[in-house]
Amino acid sequence: MEQASRATDFPIVASAAAEEAPHLEVSPGRKIAGRELGIYVHWPYCTKICPYCDFNVYRDRGADHSALAGAILVDLSAQRRLSGQRPVQSIYFGGGSPALMRPRDIAAIIATVDTLWGLVAEAEISLECNPTDLGSAGLEALRGAGINRLSVGVQAFDDAGLKSLGRHHNRADAIRTVTDAQQHFERVSLDLIYARPGQKLEEWRRELGFALDLGVEHVSLYELTIEPDTAFGRKARRGALPRTVDPLEDFFCSTREIAANSGYAPYEVSNFARTPEAQARHNLLYWRAQDWVGVGPGAHGRLTRPEGRMALTAFSRPDLYIEGAERGNCFEEADILSSADAGNEALLFGLRLAEGIDRAFLRDVAGRDCDAAEFAQLQADGVLEKSSQRIRATERGAGLADALARRLAFRH
Ligand SMILES: C[S@@+](CC[C@H](N)C(=O)[O-])C[C@H]1O[C@@H](n2cnc3c(N)ncnc32)[C@H](O)[C@@H]1O
Repeated sequence: MEQASRATDFPIVASAAAEEAPHLEVSPGRKIAGRELGIYVHWPYCTKICPYCDFNVYRDRGADHSALAGAILVDLSAQRRLSGQRPVQSIYFGGGSPALMRPRDIAAIIATVDTLWGLVAEAEISLECNPTDLGSAGLEALRGAGINRLSVGVQAFDDAGLKSLGRHHNRADAIRTVTDAQQHFERVSLDLIYARPGQKLEEWRRELGFALDLGVEHVSLYELTIEPDTAFGRKARRGALPRTVDPLEDFFCSTREIAANSGYAPYEVSNFARTPEAQARHNLLYWRAQDWVGVGPGAHGRLTRPEGRMALTAFSRPDLYIEGAERGNCFEEADILSSADAGNEALLFGLRLAEGIDRAFLRDVAGRDCDAAEFAQLQADGVLEKSSQRIRATERGAGLADALARRLAFRH
């Protein structure tokens, strides 16, 4: 088993020079130059915690926003020393509910990223927003702060469905926020959750048709996952959470069929875009195993370094994160991934992409090829295909991407 190094091995605040030259050749022929870089900003506060949500979130009981925003700025500087100089192609404000941040804090974070790394022209700067977080003035303030893509967490366009998800907005709020957003932003995406408690397939088909007719450029359509450490998880264990009436596979196939008929191409298992330009560039970094810096409580990051692929996790509790910034180190964990682990991450995310994975890139990350016999079997089963350059799931394998990645997993 290749040893993964621990957080204590990396004096994060070491001299800048040592960390300023990351684009070194790691081993003969194995280049790490050219990895794209994005910044993920996690804002953990929400006015209400949803019963299905397993993200790192906290009720916003008058939390000190400026202390957390200040800590995020300090963390950005520390991570600049780790990543070295690379232009940033995207920033993603996620949560929690980042729309509850003060626009001046959002602007300060964007300006700091531009100063530290330099933003590419046309950088994609996204923010997630709950329908009840903001009115029209608030959307304009976000645009003024530098946001150029809005992801609206609609979840359902059905009042009973929203109630079943414990959301505190209704259908009318969701429609208003999406149409308002389209007035203020060229790039708007919306999130929906399907296979909700007790949901019928026919209802979902109608609702999805309605959602796509709103004409946003991008939609994220997630099958409800019951996370064990959530209110839904506990309810399910008690047998008190109704399941869908129709098979999940039918929901998955209908979702792809209706989206395709409405001109939305599935470029990732849960993500659909009207054009290639409408694809979520920031999220593609994760799915293509590129590099990103994660700041904010509980944020994850991945950086390619001379020592290997570094996996970073920030302190999840906001108070510990703020204390960490005062000490100059916000990391709860900082590991170098083994090649097998880095390869398995690339497989897991890459097989969820319609474009699949570049074979030479995967071999470079994992240090070897996938198991040929396993691959041949999955090819014969019609769920996986390969070209001279790429491997990818077939339409029949699209809903099985995670299982395919497990079957092909690199062993330690
Ligand atoms: C970080 S959350 C967005 C948070 C934002 N505050 C909101 O609720 O709109 C990103 C998306 O993940 C999806 N999501 C969260 N928990 C989920 C679950 N248990 N099953 C399926 N999708 C989920 C939702 O569609 C949500 O919009």
